Amino acid sequence: MIQVSVPVAPAGATDAPWRHRHLLDVDSLDRAQATQCLDLATQMRSLRERGDRLNLLSGQIVGLAFAEPSTRTRVSFEIAASSLGADVVELPIQASSVTKGESLTDTIRTLERTGIGTIVMRHPRSGAPYHAARTAGARIVNAGDGTHAHPTQALLDALTLRDALDDLDGMTVAIVGDIGHSRVARSNLHLLTTMGARVRLAGPPAWVNAFRNWANVSVHHRLEDALQGADAVMALRVQLERNAGGGVPTLREYTRSWGLTEERMSLAHPGAPILHPGPTNEGVELTAALAACSRSLIGRQVTNGVAVRMAVLALLAP
Ligand code: CP
Repeated sequence: MIQVSVPVAPAGATDAPWRHRHLLDVDSLDRAQATQCLDLATQMRSLRERGDRLNLLSGQIVGLAFAEPSTRTRVSFEIAASSLGADVVELPIQASSVTKGESLTDTIRTLERTGIGTIVMRHPRSGAPYHAARTAGARIVNAGDGTHAHPTQALLDALTLRDALDDLDGMTVAIVGDIGHSRVARSNLHLLTTMGARVRLAGPPAWVNAFRNWANVSVHHRLEDALQGADAVMALRVQLERNAGGGVPTLREYTRSWGLTEERMSLAHPGAPILHPGPTNEGVELTAALAACSRSLIGRQVTNGVAVRMAVLALLAP
């Protein structure tokens, strides 16, 4: 075990350093605080690559309360917490007393009375982590709530993009697909624009028009317009589980109009990286060849998820 200390705000920062009790969305972070988190994640990644284990959360218990399926977020939070020396307790909500009618408030209070100090929470209802934060003494980390927010995904996307582009300031990032149902897109819109990027949204009108009035965000109904000269392109999963009302008639038609192909990607800046938060619908949002090509950072996003979640847990630690 080695000792590391959490750094204060970056040199030159004028805003307050990270003093958040919870991480509910990235709209609570200014540029200096987000940069602080990304810098710490970069340090955490180096320490992990060297095989070092840390003791920042030694003696603390982190609870993972997931009421929706997850692979990347759940596993990476577990590895992040244990890499920092915390004990980790899993509470799959479907196997909890919620099925007997226990409320979210009582569930959270029960967890904290067992000694859990930080609860990482995924929930199908937008706003559920905010309710938990109001009623709980524990620290709450939002691991995705309904269609609302996924702050650690946005942070890991920003880290992956910063590595690839050096700086997000002044960059143009195209986000393609099911924006309307996407908590990833909402959090990315906040964070990318906070970091100085311009965002182009592309997708069927029903999925993108609600974002017309965001600052530094443009909405496109032709994929080619969004891709032209873009510095990076992010495809989003078509969320079949939230899509009963439609937006596109069929997945095949979605792919025909909005699927990323090599030919379409040739419109973007040469070598522009391709991201996808995962899981993908294979062959729907992008071709299998693009997902596997050297411009694809999809695997890198997953790896960076551990480092970013280590940084978040470290910054929130008491
Ligand atoms: N990107 C993401 O949240 O993936 P999981 O649902 O697998 O956690």
